Amino acid sequence: MESPYKANILKGKVALLTGGGSGIGFEISTQFGKHGASIAIMGRRKNVLDAAVSSLQSLGIQAVGFEGDVRKQEDARRVVESTIKHFGKLDILVNAAAGNFLVSPEDLSPNGFKTVMDIDSVGTFTMCHEALEYLKKGGQGRSSSSGGMILNISATLHYTASWYQIHVSAAKAAVDALTRNLALEWGTDYDIRVNGIAPGPIGDTTGMRKLAPDEMNAKFRDYMPLYKLGEKWDIAMAALYLTSEAGKYVNGTTLVVDGGLWLSRPRH
Ligand code: HXC
Repeated sequence: MESPYKANILKGKVALLTGGGSGIGFEISTQFGKHGASIAIMGRRKNVLDAAVSSLQSLGIQAVGFEGDVRKQEDARRVVESTIKHFGKLDILVNAAAGNFLVSPEDLSPNGFKTVMDIDSVGTFTMCHEALEYLKKGGQGRSSSSGGMILNISATLHYTASWYQIHVSAAKAAVDALTRNLALEWGTDYDIRVNGIAPGPIGDTTGMRKLAPDEMNAKFRDYMPLYKLGEKWDIAMAALYLTSEAGKYVNGTTLVVDGGLWLSRPRH
């Protein structure tokens, strides 16, 4: 679908996306690139990274991939530093890496719980922590008056309660807390805007394949005001709004992009 934005709204910006090689992260990489940004993507799987980088480059987008796991602080530091070496600065950090599986609390080992917390929550904090030096006003490649941006991909599961998702609900609740607290403290001290997006069910993603097999998709329609799944494009357009000048006064918010699903009830 054609973008409603001008093609230069992220011109000259450098974005680093964890999980930027697949799913929602890759669509954000693509749309950021199409709107003028240079793209660094971080991921664990070399083949996924390579394919994503080639695909971006075939669109004329400046792109580079760095292997790394957000659970390892040394990987986070190395990837942030490599991004700076490659592009000279960092303007936008997108935390899109996530882990998920369906499991009941009684079947979930504490290590399984911790694994998702480590990827989603601790990983997000670690990336923010390692990127601060470059995102803050006056950081390498930045002016002394303007800081960069952080965008955290969250969910709506934890607004209520979700079956078989206790680990992800806890992890994304923590991500939302990081968004608010960093917006307060780093917004004030370093002029960094920190926001989030909470996607609803988005078609053609690992999340949907794992969480909602095909037979469940039809059932969603009974609940959904817009009677359809979202598209990765919808999330990328929200990401463009939040990270471009259009969103310059938005800080500390997590924008729900779910067609109204989380607050809806079945018709009766
Ligand atoms: C129960 C499980 C499990 C499962 C893993 N574990 N899978 N427990 N059911 N299906 C437990 C293991 O038993 C182990 O605990 C611990 O978790 C670590 O497992 P590993 O396999 O060693 O972990 P690892 O190889 O690091 O893989 C991480 C992962 C994996 C999260 C388990 O699924 C992954 O890498 N996912 C990344 C891609 C992904 O899932 N993306 C989708 C994001 S969708 P023990 O005790 O046995 O040692 C998304 C949407 C959210 O985030 C919102 C939706 C609305």
